[in-house]
Amino acid sequence: MWLPCRCATKYVVASFRRGVSASFLHVLRRGRSSWNSAAFMPESAGFEGVSGRDALHDYSVSHGESFWDAVARQRLSWIRPFDAVQDCDLSQGRIKWFEGGKLNVSVNCLDRHVHTCPERVALIWERDEQGSEVRYTYRELLEMTCRLGNLLRRHGVKKGDCVTIYMPTCPLAVASMLACARIGAAHNVVFAGFSSEALAERIRDAQSSTVITVNQGVRGGKITELKRTVDAAVQSCPTVRQVFVAMRTEKRVEMTDRDFTLEEEMLKEDVVCEPAAMDSEDVLFLLYTSGSTGKPKGLVHTQAGYLLYAALTHRYVFGYHDGDVFGCVADIGWITGHSYTVYGPLANGGTTVLFESTPVYPDPGRYWDMVERLRINQFYGAPTAIRLLIKYGDQWVKKYDRSSLTTLGSVGEPINTEAWEWYNRVVGEGRCPVVDTWWQTETGGICIAPKPSEPDAEIVPGMAMRPFFGIKPVLMDTEGKLLTSNNTSGALCMALPWPGMARTIHNNHQRFLETYFQPYPGYFFTGDGAYRSQEGYYQITGRLDDVINVSGHRIGTAEIEDVLNQCSAVAESAVIGYSHNIKGQGKYQRVYAFVVLKKGVDIQEADLSKQLNSMVSEKIAKYACPDFIQLAKRLPKTRSGKIMRRVLRKVVDCDLDGLGDLSTLDDPAAVQEIIEGHEKLSTYLFKTATVSQTDQSHAQLFTGPRRLRTLSRDVFPVPVFPTTSSSIFICCLACLTSSDGRPKSRHKNGIVTAFMAILVARRTATPMTKRSTERNTRPVVIGGRVSGSEDSGGSCSRPSW
Ligand code: WTA
Repeated sequence: MWLPCRCATKYVVASFRRGVSASFLHVLRRGRSSWNSAAFMPESAGFEGVSGRDALHDYSVSHGESFWDAVARQRLSWIRPFDAVQDCDLSQGRIKWFEGGKLNVSVNCLDRHVHTCPERVALIWERDEQGSEVRYTYRELLEMTCRLGNLLRRHGVKKGDCVTIYMPTCPLAVASMLACARIGAAHNVVFAGFSSEALAERIRDAQSSTVITVNQGVRGGKITELKRTVDAAVQSCPTVRQVFVAMRTEKRVEMTDRDFTLEEEMLKEDVVCEPAAMDSEDVLFLLYTSGSTGKPKGLVHTQAGYLLYAALTHRYVFGYHDGDVFGCVADIGWITGHSYTVYGPLANGGTTVLFESTPVYPDPGRYWDMVERLRINQFYGAPTAIRLLIKYGDQWVKKYDRSSLTTLGSVGEPINTEAWEWYNRVVGEGRCPVVDTWWQTETGGICIAPKPSEPDAEIVPGMAMRPFFGIKPVLMDTEGKLLTSNNTSGALCMALPWPGMARTIHNNHQRFLETYFQPYPGYFFTGDGAYRSQEGYYQITGRLDDVINVSGHRIGTAEIEDVLNQCSAVAESAVIGYSHNIKGQGKYQRVYAFVVLKKGVDIQEADLSKQLNSMVSEKIAKYACPDFIQLAKRLPKTRSGKIMRRVLRKVVDCDLDGLGDLSTLDDPAAVQEIIEGHEKLSTYLFKTATVSQTDQSHAQLFTGPRRLRTLSRDVFPVPVFPTTSSSIFICCLACLTSSDGRPKSRHKNGIVTAFMAILVARRTATPMTKRSTERNTRPVVIGGRVSGSEDSGGSCSRPSW
């Protein structure tokens, strides 16, 4: 059998923004050596007069045609060479690369390496059960892929079809992706943490007739019933004809006429499968991600450009060399797993780790034990996981030999200085460059990262810094004007197309144009804000649209509102991202929901909270559940009826000075009510480490006619009345008696912190003013709304800040 047993990995991350002061400028100096462009990058041998990384970058943007032509010819294997390097026009949203060329992505990722080194290890499956890793050579992975490709073909999957893959990170999931690529079908990998409804929505939108899944997932020692989730999903997916079920565990699951056991079916197939000759611009995959509306968008990536960009960035950002072991711990359900667990490393003939577990299972040494056992050279993880591990202490890291490590990567959200320093000093022993990589599902691969750079070039903690080859970032002001000076902030756009960028949104090209190309005509708009330092380095400041980054996972506020509004008790709701600033840990983003109940509804706050949470986790996923719920009598709206989220954001941010122009408000009293409601939530609950430490906690804060706040049982299990001695007492008592299984010392810390914070809160008469002044010490972009904005002045689709 292909899957002896067990599977799954979730990419753990959290979100927050932070400012890295110039005084934190740390210079990593490694032995000065002279730069030889051709030795560094063989493809650049023919570029005249190019010496040094900066010159190579200049060349890649000023001579894009020649740069990408050379790289594409040399790095990919073509069935037929391309006729034109590119046909792109950002003002029209037209992106086409390497037209006329034919290739097969699975051949590029497998066959060509099987010819040269069949026994090289392609995958190391780091199973949830520690110490039970399984290795697959390129020959074995090709065989598995071919059997799967033949199976799909025999079951009627054709070029142009789309196969949905709902699996944890495991070899069969990788083989399924490559099998689709082999026969010319697109794949649609859905993160195995998504609910049945979220899965169904993605299957329907992709019009998949085939789903591949596993009987059960295994992660952190826990079982998840993935097949059951698929069963529930396909009930509302009339297009689904067949479901292939791999056996991750021994447990037999109910099978219907539509279901096939994957391994049994694969054994019937031949190990040779004719690869389809694909056009460069044929679809390789769809990957759904959250945007500003309630509907997730299926971003479309195509064959040649995506693969080339994933391979090139993998090679040069991480300094990957033949024989290295690359450890990206992202789940394959996200773009990071696609580009840096699967396609980039395999296109480069690398050895890639499939991490199925969690950073703390069975203990907080899991990553570093894995680094020692598998001799990992490049480790690519997420800031949340790093922050989580910091709390457990250095001993969990130092216990293991990390001498194999050469580069440490970070992705998904800003990495705060403390986490960066710890990663660098403790994990990397100060000898591994830390690369904070900025990119998105839309960009296909890393666009801004400290590497590649010249060997002695500085690396600033917490800054993505340098654009990759062929990438030309620019900053825009609110009027859509280019900001040319340094030491400035603005909306991050790209002035040039690059091969890895998404081509469209499946079934909705108009939305693609409106979201990415219309806000700043002639440019690709990323949706993020950025700061450009005096030295010209980029630092990402966060999203400008209504997308929240919760633990590194993207979620649109509108998606959550859609679910909340389906509750029979709810009249309307507004969800915003609340940046929770934690001392020493930067900013976490949390989900804050304002809920207006229908007239005459009589419901206990705790029941409502439970109901709303279970609806969100059933319809989207657990990570999207609101951390805070504020009941309101009404929401502030414009005269045309649009909710003024900008105002809600400012209120929650305690930035009352920054409420801005309220002249378009229909009824200013609504804002006052919201402020009063929010004020009644004691400031300390948001500011103390007690709440921050409970990453998985959902502190439900209610205000309403009864002026009662109920905090969820796992943090403060009893109702709390703010800033009164009794509330402090009850809160602390609750902490002490909590039976949630967390170490008692943390509760004690929480109590001390709560007391101190209350004292501070009582003494601080105007904390908001102070905070906004602090913020002004460094230019940052404050969130606005991109499209359909309530107060953006009609049709303007640019963010305001
Ligand atoms: C955020 C993940 C700051 C950003 C690869 C982006 C980051 C969104 C960083 C994309 C970083 C990603 N620093 N923010 N190094 N990397 N982001 O599509 O807001 O899941 O727009 O892709 O994550 O998330 P996505």
